[in-house]
Amino acid sequence: MLRIQLFVTKKSSPRMTLHSCIKRAEKFASDNGIENPILLGPMAGACPVSLSIAVAKGGGMGACGALLMHPEKIKKWAQEFRSITDAPFQMNLWIPDAEAPLSPEHEKQLRTYLNNWGPEVSADATSDTLPNFQEQCAALLDIAPPAISSIMGLFDESFVAQIKERGIKWFANVSTLEEAVMAEAAGADVVVAKGYEGGGHSGAFNPDNATRCGVGLLSLIPAIADSVKLPIVAAGGIADGRTMASTLLLGASAVQIGTGFLRAPESTIAPAWSDAIGVARPEDTMITKAYSGRAGRSIATKYALAMAQDDTPEPAPYPTQRALTHAMRTAAVKENRLEAMQAWAGQSAGMAQVKSATKITRNIWASAKALCDKLN
Ligand SMILES: Cc1cc2nc3c(=O)[nH]c(=O)nc-3n(C[C@H](O)[C@H](O)[C@H](O)COP(=O)(O)O)c2cc1C
Repeated sequence: MLRIQLFVTKKSSPRMTLHSCIKRAEKFASDNGIENPILLGPMAGACPVSLSIAVAKGGGMGACGALLMHPEKIKKWAQEFRSITDAPFQMNLWIPDAEAPLSPEHEKQLRTYLNNWGPEVSADATSDTLPNFQEQCAALLDIAPPAISSIMGLFDESFVAQIKERGIKWFANVSTLEEAVMAEAAGADVVVAKGYEGGGHSGAFNPDNATRCGVGLLSLIPAIADSVKLPIVAAGGIADGRTMASTLLLGASAVQIGTGFLRAPESTIAPAWSDAIGVARPEDTMITKAYSGRAGRSIATKYALAMAQDDTPEPAPYPTQRALTHAMRTAAVKENRLEAMQAWAGQSAGMAQVKSATKITRNIWASAKALCDKLN
């Protein structure tokens, strides 16, 4: 009798859990007008319309990382996407950091150091500022995409009210439980929980927490699921059916994938970056402030490794470091030279496939579902 009961408990409990995970993911997809619960990660500088269209064709959601785009460019991106498909997409902005000063002595040290890695840093390099955030926000309201996402902080009350009036959903990127609770209280519709494994910048609201509080997805998703009622989109290190299925089991309703799409033919990154992703082991990426001044996960390039040494100058705060490294990064892409290239990548980079993003999207969801069915 006892044996039978144990058997029933062991068999029936996972069956229920896995079944409800798939149902939860299917509900998220249908609530957001997509076929498959997979979102392309918004990637500033690496999100051509072609990539979003390919993901949308695979039943997922496209994305525009608009950080570096002026309003006209943002509007053009949306027009081009909409001229091909009426599928949903998200547009993403970074909440600006408070300005942090840089001493002339520190700047001088950095300029001298960076001149070894690329063209001479021009005298007016730090006047290369980012587009105006309020104007970008206004462009997003004009476009009225199905979803607007934030990273590095939260939108203010008045912007949230305006997006809600237009029926736009707010997807808030978070990197800790505390940030998820804050996002829910501020009116977010969805939290995108990005783990420490993920490629690109950490979304920590406070830049000083980005390295100290790096939380992996295995801890982040269940903690958020236990305390926050919003649907969770898991991001970071997801690139195949196994990784997707495990995040659904932990409590996610969908996944967001960045690096896993960067080798698709519809992506436009430099060949040396794509090749480095293809051969990267989990330990071949690192968290670095060397490119922008904000911590992010990149391939451990020669430049990023050198900047981690004790005898090199500290990176300037974001966005000044970004401006100072602009010439070096641009030249490295032009010359297809990985050593000084800004090559963001997550810890599952080696799983990224050279396949159409349409196929990647379909395959990952089919494989995640098949895995769950097998375990049932
Ligand atoms: C090249 C690159 C640029 C990114 N830029 C942004 C961005 O502008 N805004 C944002 O919210 N996330 C950005 N991310 C994070 C992705 O949207 C996504 O959450 C992340 O890539 C997931 O981790 P993965 O790369 O391991 O799949 C970027 C990631 C990469 C790889």
